[in-house]
Amino acid sequence: MSSSGSQSIQSVLKETRTFAPPATFSAEAHIGSQQQYDAMWKRAKDDPAGFWGEMAENLDWFRRWDTVLQGQMPETQWFVGGKINASYNCVDRHLLGPHRNKAAIIWEGEPGDTRVLRYQDLHREVCKFANVLKKLGVQTGDRVTLYMPMIPELTIAMLACARIGAVHSIIFGGFSSEAVADRNNDARARVVVTADGGWRRGKEVPLKAAVDTSLDKCPTVEKVVVVRRTGGEVDMVPDRDFWWHELMESVTADCDPVPLDSEHPLFILYTSGSTGKPKGVLHTTAGYLLGTTMTSRWVFDLKEDDTYWCTADIGWITGHSYICYGPLSNGATVVMYEGAPNWPDEGRFWEIIEKYRVSIFYTAPTAIRAFIKWGDQWPEKHDLSSLRLLGSVGEPINPEAWMWYHKVIGQERCPIVDTWWQTETGSIMISPLPGVTATKPGSCCRPLPGIVPDIVTRDGQSLGPNEGGLLVMRQPWPSMLRTLYGDHERFKKTYFSEVPGCYFAGDGARHDEDGYLWVMGRVDDVLNVSGHRLSTMEVESTLVAHSKVAEAAVVGFPHEIKGEGICCFVTLKSGEGDEALKAELVQHVRHSIGALATPDQIRFATALPKTRSGKIMRRLLRDIAAGRESTQDTTTLEDLSILAKLRSDEE
Ligand code: WT7
Repeated sequence: MSSSGSQSIQSVLKETRTFAPPATFSAEAHIGSQQQYDAMWKRAKDDPAGFWGEMAENLDWFRRWDTVLQGQMPETQWFVGGKINASYNCVDRHLLGPHRNKAAIIWEGEPGDTRVLRYQDLHREVCKFANVLKKLGVQTGDRVTLYMPMIPELTIAMLACARIGAVHSIIFGGFSSEAVADRNNDARARVVVTADGGWRRGKEVPLKAAVDTSLDKCPTVEKVVVVRRTGGEVDMVPDRDFWWHELMESVTADCDPVPLDSEHPLFILYTSGSTGKPKGVLHTTAGYLLGTTMTSRWVFDLKEDDTYWCTADIGWITGHSYICYGPLSNGATVVMYEGAPNWPDEGRFWEIIEKYRVSIFYTAPTAIRAFIKWGDQWPEKHDLSSLRLLGSVGEPINPEAWMWYHKVIGQERCPIVDTWWQTETGSIMISPLPGVTATKPGSCCRPLPGIVPDIVTRDGQSLGPNEGGLLVMRQPWPSMLRTLYGDHERFKKTYFSEVPGCYFAGDGARHDEDGYLWVMGRVDDVLNVSGHRLSTMEVESTLVAHSKVAEAAVVGFPHEIKGEGICCFVTLKSGEGDEALKAELVQHVRHSIGALATPDQIRFATALPKTRSGKIMRRLLRDIAAGRESTQDTTTLEDLSILAKLRSDEE
């Protein structure tokens, strides 16, 4: 292994297994051969305006654009002069033919109640709620906060905003009232849509109460709309708070979609940065819709008779793009589930797949590792033969988890698409194409057509195969963020100043000799051990490959000799860890990676601190490893008690 200068990150993972797509899958796929992919990718790279202009024919426009792409990164505009409406594309256009009675949303509540909305039903509800918003005084360009459980009204409210050109800002239902207040204020929201509560592991999550607390600090919010979901008690403030069902009775179902400029803001979605206040990522209408529409078709290979299920919460970008806009724009049938994967038991997801004959299933590595820990007996109880394609998103998937997903869930029949993208990119950027790509466990493979990534040093020099560096994009793409709401300087600084002329994603990556990309995690998470820059993700991946380990989080801590030492937090599949197992794990890492990666500390934990979207909060673990009091913001932590437990476990 040779170091390629202080700029690069050494890669120690070697994965040699490959899995070619089944010939029957390729024969039917939207993109079915390497030649077709190569030709599309080259065309898009050489002539982005020609390529994306052609793709844009897949959307319905009120007025055709004059110019496909104007300006250079970071100030790009797409489909300038065009007039379009996202709600029209996701709903109305499907009413013209046989889709009108097709299920758009098959919804299942955590307690087991179900609802099905056909495209016609969705249209009626969206039109009515758009009229409700207008009645409350919401105008094109106003911001509306949605703080809701995973119920159909959330999708209805999103599309109703889009219909009249109001900008939605969805706040994940697990966030606190402070988070709601900060985001309401940053966006200067006029209306908040919420529910009395939602169901999570059999308990009611009180949403309206959190909104009430937040509104003491939110002068811009004038009205609150409340969906009755749990029937829990809520305080309704006269003239401010209104029941959804009462308002819906007072309006008609006639509401024309507003023809909006291509660059009209569609939504703001807040994402936490490593430092400072949350960033309000702003996406605009036509480019975002085009990105999500095309990638849903290419990556998930959506077909007329598919039943598609993405398990993300709509409060994250994954839910925005791949529960709502992408699949609905394609006229797909989407399954939506309100609750937890382990309620009433650990078989709930597999039960849902069996019940609705789900054919495409999209989830996250953190969930997959939980399924592995719960045991194969849960999926084995259910008929998963309807599945034809599996997806993963959110973090690098370790090869062990990939292989389990392939064998136990995909039954060695289903291609796996490991999709790399970000809140900021709007849609999937790098992913296998299920009918084309021979996948390698742990690699997100090749860029999609129109996406031109590179791996570079800090001064922008391209690196060769297997040299780890910074992942950047050399060309703009339609669904990229346009700004950080209210802070265009921060937008330029965060994404476009690190590597001049490029979009910088914040991730480290390498490509291998076949041009496959391997994401190595956030560059902030890189270790520097005796001058070797190592990816924490790769050490974690090695630990998880040990038969007793369920999850691992690796962080650096100040070390007198090595600069940084390696501290590994480990949760086990069962039982408790002891000194013998610690020694065994140290040997395992030494043996798999080499002496330079020898862990200095192994700490057993019952759980790891995660954000509500499942990302391990390494910043907190770094403080614990260094024996520091933490000054970090913990408002996005899923379970605060975990921190106290980790601290009390300190030696
Ligand atoms: C970060 C973006 C994109 C929707 C969910 C997360 C990591 C995401 C992968 C993947 C390796 C991945 C990256 C990225 N990430 N998908 N398939 N392989 N890493 O959205 O919260 O904006 O996070 O998630 O580090 O930068 P997000």
